Amino acid sequence: FHNHFIESVRPLIELIDSLKLIGLDEDIGLPSIAVVGDQSSGKSSVLEALSGVALPRGSGIVTRCPLELKLQKLKNGPWSGIISYSGHRETFNDPLKVDTLVREAQNKLAGKAVGICDELITLEISSPDVCDLTLIDLPGITRVPVHDQPEDIGDQIKTLILKYIAKSETIILVVVPCNVDIATTEALRMAQKVDPEGLRTLAILTKPDLIDRGAEIDVLNIVQGKVIPLSKGYIIVRCRGQSDINDRIPFDKAMEAELKFFRNHHYFRYLMTYNILIVNITCMNSLHIKKSLPSLTEQIQTRLLNVQRDLKNYEQGPPLEEEMMGPFLSEVRALRVDHHKCYLSRNNVIAFK
Ligand code: GDP
Ligand code: NA
Ligand code: MG
Repeated sequence: FHNHFIESVRPLIELIDSLKLIGLDEDIGLPSIAVVGDQSSGKSSVLEALSGVALPRGSGIVTRCPLELKLQKLKNGPWSGIISYSGHRETFNDPLKVDTLVREAQNKLAGKAVGICDELITLEISSPDVCDLTLIDLPGITRVPVHDQPEDIGDQIKTLILKYIAKSETIILVVVPCNVDIATTEALRMAQKVDPEGLRTLAILTKPDLIDRGAEIDVLNIVQGKVIPLSKGYIIVRCRGQSDINDRIPFDKAMEAELKFFRNHHYFRYLMTYNILIVNITCMNSLHIKKSLPSLTEQIQTRLLNVQRDLKNYEQGPPLEEEMMGPFLSEVRALRVDHHKCYLSRNNVIAFK
């Protein structure tokens, strides 16, 4: 199923690639994916799973500025990264530096404490191992200010999130941990407000390994859409926990562990895992591309018409002396003969006095 699906999506991705190649992406917003959710719900973990890029993660407020992750698949060639924000731009080629550089950028933009900032950090990564996607990591929703956070920190963050998810070309991934009351999730409510039909909203449930004993059935009901129905539904994933990170469990090992977790789970055995998540998101991405095709077509057609019109003017190629210049030359000769008697009328017809 997976391979078959990728095959059917391939032409779309190639189409977008070729449009990028002729520079069309400068005029048209190509689809992007934003993750929203409560603080520590697992947003950065999900992004990490999607991108293979290790982002800063942990408890408390870690993501303090919007981070745009632009992934570009290379046919071959080494991994390379560029981080840019407010006039600063740095190229690097060690994936392990991502964490430090992003934290450094956040400290510069949002201060060293717990503040947030709506300036964008852009991280471009080119590698044969990523897929062509643009992902946006956003600060998590908080209710209660901590330490020296301003009273209205919650509203500040919500305003920032809205700016991104209100755009119709943004796919919204709402991240909710399994071990909270999903029905009261603010992120889900925000998504439903900007996308009432749920056409571009996908809910991702994290931390299935932390569900209280006995609560599995409740989570299963949610995943099956029996509590809050969503047209794109729910996906449940298990990401690396804090101890996995502390133990430096590599990414592929974590994926194996995830598969094993689901395969052996009494209730979740039949649910989707990471691979399907990628398929689903690629699918939404390509649907989005499909939806933007009419406008793309229109713009390309306008350009084509202009070029065709220009081309028509040059259709005969440069005039040959014989066929084009011939009659004209004889007229000029006639003019020369009787130049004092003739003039060019307003519509370029040669008239004689
Ligand atoms: P964010 O604040 O929403 O970006 O959340 P993070 O991705 O930083 O995750 C917060 C914490 O939850 C980190 O310590 C993660 O390791 C942990 N975490 C994320 N997903 C899972 C999961 O599926 N299982 C477990 N056990 N921990 C997770
Ligand atoms: Na966090
Ligand atoms: Mg985060």
